[in-house]
Amino acid sequence: CGIVGVIGRDDATQVLLNGLEKLEYRGYDSAGVYVNDQNGHDYLVKRVGRIKNLEAALTPEIQGSIGIGHTRWATNGAPTEANAHPHVSNDGRFYLVHNGVVTNAQTLRQEYLTDVELHSSTDTEVVVQLIALFAQQDGLDAKAALRKTLKLVEGSYAFSLVDRNQPDALYVAKNKSPLLIGKGDGFNVVASDALAMLDVTNQFIEVKDEEIVTLTKTDITIENLAGTQIQRNAFTVKMDAADLGKGTYPFYMLKEVDEQPVVMHRLAEKYLDAKGNVVLPADLLDALKQADRLYIVAAGTSYHAGLVGKPLFEQLAGIPTEVVLGSEFGYHMPMLSKKPMFIFLSQSGETADSRQVLVKTKALGYPALTITNVGTSTLAREADFALELYAGPEIAVASTKAYTAQIGVEALVAKALGTAFNQPAAKQFDVAHQLALAADGQQALIDQKEHLHDLAKDMFATTRNAFFIGRGTDYFVSLEAALKLKEISYVQAEGFAAGELKHGTIALIEDNTPVVAFITDPVTAEHTRANGQEVQARGGKVLHIAAHDLAKDGDELVIGDIDPLLSPLVTIVAGQLLAYYTSYDRGYDVDKPRNLAKSVTVE
Ligand code: G6P
Repeated sequence: CGIVGVIGRDDATQVLLNGLEKLEYRGYDSAGVYVNDQNGHDYLVKRVGRIKNLEAALTPEIQGSIGIGHTRWATNGAPTEANAHPHVSNDGRFYLVHNGVVTNAQTLRQEYLTDVELHSSTDTEVVVQLIALFAQQDGLDAKAALRKTLKLVEGSYAFSLVDRNQPDALYVAKNKSPLLIGKGDGFNVVASDALAMLDVTNQFIEVKDEEIVTLTKTDITIENLAGTQIQRNAFTVKMDAADLGKGTYPFYMLKEVDEQPVVMHRLAEKYLDAKGNVVLPADLLDALKQADRLYIVAAGTSYHAGLVGKPLFEQLAGIPTEVVLGSEFGYHMPMLSKKPMFIFLSQSGETADSRQVLVKTKALGYPALTITNVGTSTLAREADFALELYAGPEIAVASTKAYTAQIGVEALVAKALGTAFNQPAAKQFDVAHQLALAADGQQALIDQKEHLHDLAKDMFATTRNAFFIGRGTDYFVSLEAALKLKEISYVQAEGFAAGELKHGTIALIEDNTPVVAFITDPVTAEHTRANGQEVQARGGKVLHIAAHDLAKDGDELVIGDIDPLLSPLVTIVAGQLLAYYTSYDRGYDVDKPRNLAKSVTVE
């Protein structure tokens, strides 16, 4: 979910709406705003579905100078209008938006609200009713009632609250869920992500866990739950507004696929000196050198990028590397090595599953590096070290350029560490040249869009399922290519280690079942081809994507020269475009697939 708030702007409705549009990547099951003109008029409007449904409902009289807004990715309760935010207390006094999950809502309800009628099945409504109850019962003002409530609430939250009786302040609070304050001239704003408010300000102030912030149009007051005031300076967020448009592209995803060669060159520019040496902060390199094992923590596509990182770190730097899912690792931690170092891979830098691991490993005293596309994000701020992906804003829900940028940064870090360790493999690995080759190989596929569109039609036009196979890094890219197809075209797709298919899953192969085989690993190329033949012998249809030196006549796609360790940088572009055209041809909203959110800030 995403939240926004504003105070001190006569165009509050528009500021909220613009902000919500930018936050739609965080969820789009339903959306709502509450605005108050501080002159006795106020409006609460909520709609199921996309922000555009909400926009259509916002008639011209709905104006205000203070307001809050929300776009929802349903966690507690179905995506209905009743469950949409803002939620209002039964006395009509308090309006609240919330990103996160209050885990003890049922207990709080039983303890305090047995006499209160609830109108939704959300945890958020429990919170707003509690605030109203405490305000009334104990004669508390909004901030005191909020503080009393926060002391009882467990779980994650970014809240923004308006008191209809005193609409001259906006109250916000956070725990675990992301939240930033934006500082304006005669106004102030709040949002889950700086992106949402870049139109109105580039000055932002961090809010830390268990803090309450009071915003008036001129002042920002930060306090902890005990009421002690905290001073904190603003930081500047720089982003090129042009990066945020999709230009002539029908969908952001296609634009972002096309940007990948530029991102490869940008990584070389940002991380390499004139001699082609990787430049990392000295203290980061020291921390990496002291580690006896790396643990890469991630989710979704970033996890798949992490898998590609394992052989890079092990072969170039000679350091054992584990790749783990945050949601599993944090709660079922295996035996760790003596001196582990944690690498958090996250496009958004906000994924709650990864963050809970960072909180735990920090408490254990282990060093952490975050590799992320958002330098100001929670994971970047909270880790000891952060490296940026420089991929530019990624808007489409299905991640593309962040995946390839993550692999690029892993290669750079592995090269730097391997060089520091005097590893011969690292010395031989010309990372500058490899990034240039990656850009060329990606561009060659991007230039063959029509061919890829035809292949997508031929393979996936009507299919219900599909398989992607490969070995080594080709297996890892199979997982990612399958995920892309699943996410945006709803085809049930699986990535398999090619040799494993015959041990069970081959039972699913029927006439014309589509199987994509990635063949870029010289050691196992012939085995993977044989696995493809086993599929064909059972009626399956195989599309071969092969490295040019391993290609055979009839291979549908041949990719340019690149080190097999980095072949996913190129082969995934084929997977991305096959998924894109399948979704496009089926008439889906490629950028906003059903049920998903780009940044998942709940566990
Ligand atoms: C969500 C998105 C995925 C993404 C994952 C991890 O589930 O839908 O596309 O890969 O989160 O996100 P992160 O921002 O941590 O890379």
